[in-house]
Amino acid sequence: ILSSRVQPDPSGSETCVCLQVEKHLEPFRLSLEKLQDVSARLRKDMLRGLGKHAHHRAAVKMLPTFVRATPDGTEKGDFLALDLGGTNFRVLHVRVLEEEQRVLKMDSQICAIPQEIMLGTGEKLFDHIAACLAEFLDSQKLRGQTLPLGFTFSFPCEQKEIDKSILIRWTKGFNCSGVEGEDVVRLLKEAIHRRGDYDIGSVAMVNDTVGTMMSCGYRDQSCEIGMIIGTGTNACYMEEMKNVKRVEGEDGRMCINTEWGGFGDDGSLKDILTEFDEEVDKTSINPGVHTFEKMISGMYLGEIVRLVLLKLTEEKLLFKGCPSEALLTPGSFETKFISEIEDGLENAKKILTKLALDWDLVDACVARLVCDTVSSRSARLCAAALATIANRIRTNRGLDHLKTTVGVDGTVYRKHPNFSDELQAAVRLLAPKCDVSFLISEDGSGKGAAMVTAVAQRLALHCMLNFL
Ligand code: BGC
Repeated sequence: ILSSRVQPDPSGSETCVCLQVEKHLEPFRLSLEKLQDVSARLRKDMLRGLGKHAHHRAAVKMLPTFVRATPDGTEKGDFLALDLGGTNFRVLHVRVLEEEQRVLKMDSQICAIPQEIMLGTGEKLFDHIAACLAEFLDSQKLRGQTLPLGFTFSFPCEQKEIDKSILIRWTKGFNCSGVEGEDVVRLLKEAIHRRGDYDIGSVAMVNDTVGTMMSCGYRDQSCEIGMIIGTGTNACYMEEMKNVKRVEGEDGRMCINTEWGGFGDDGSLKDILTEFDEEVDKTSINPGVHTFEKMISGMYLGEIVRLVLLKLTEEKLLFKGCPSEALLTPGSFETKFISEIEDGLENAKKILTKLALDWDLVDACVARLVCDTVSSRSARLCAAALATIANRIRTNRGLDHLKTTVGVDGTVYRKHPNFSDELQAAVRLLAPKCDVSFLISEDGSGKGAAMVTAVAQRLALHCMLNFL
């Protein structure tokens, strides 16, 4: 269909539209060699992040999480979990059942976080969180019990202890004042004390990647990697303690939150950034920050596609050269449109109509091609990063062959029709000595937070018994 349309190119001669479109899409197509090269750069950055002194300047932060073990199946009890990381905030009551090796969500409640709170003061944000928690405790008749609490806080934090966690910076559209550089657990406790009408038990701070790994780890004990590809992107994995230079101790392992979203913030990915990535970064609320995430995650993919479609329209390769008001509006092309358009041409037609574009069949096919190109790059970049981690675990353990499981979550991974297939195919090529399985996490950031708390309790009990 694409080759059926010819049009004059800038030199005045007639060429097939697909060749002219391809010129703009080509920079998104990353060869296997390029991905290997990206993986090698990430490997170096991960080492820098793990280093005792180099980590201050590292783009990939490699944050210790103080999670020292994955579940062994003996954990049990009732827990509260809080989950803050996207546009909603959730409170959950979770029960871990040892006999059935199952984590049950007893009940949960979603509270929206309005834009003015996302961009307001930290005090307002934590007061809002404390109020939602109070409402939930009442509805569950749990007020008066001091259950341990797992707090999934999905932003880069320098964790000092399992219950002390300093926010390095906001990402994903949040920008509350007075929180960066502060201990998030303290801010939560202060907000609860300001109310003075209820209390909470011990707190364990968790990144969503860690929650995801831990919730899958209860079902599959070879799960040692957690990955999120949703509004934001990130991964964690179990690293050998002897390589975690910033934490005392040589024995055992610790989960490291890589914060791979920051990969490239030192300019190391300049050669693969397209003009569209640069534009997305420039117009974001945090320019220069989370370069890798902006090429991959749901918060940005729709906007990249919109900018490409706009460029092709300006070049008169699409929509008869006429953009609609919607196409000209930043943020109007939602990331979920990409999944829908790739799912079928009929969907593409509906969405282009919804965006008030004057389209024909060739336009609908070109729009699909653009979506496919942008989402494929995202999947292949994620694969390069994930392969780097799998290869590292394998060499860390001196194995010829590694069999491992990745607990994964996030709307892009779950909802896109071929994202997971593409990602898995590329991982097989980039980590040929690793046999990587994928397990979709069922509510990792809720149940996983409870699991982290449960494992921390098991280890504390074990430690106490040894001491006695
Ligand atoms: C945050 C990570 C988080 C990821 C996925 C990123 O923006 O920096 O901490 O794990 O989003 O939610």
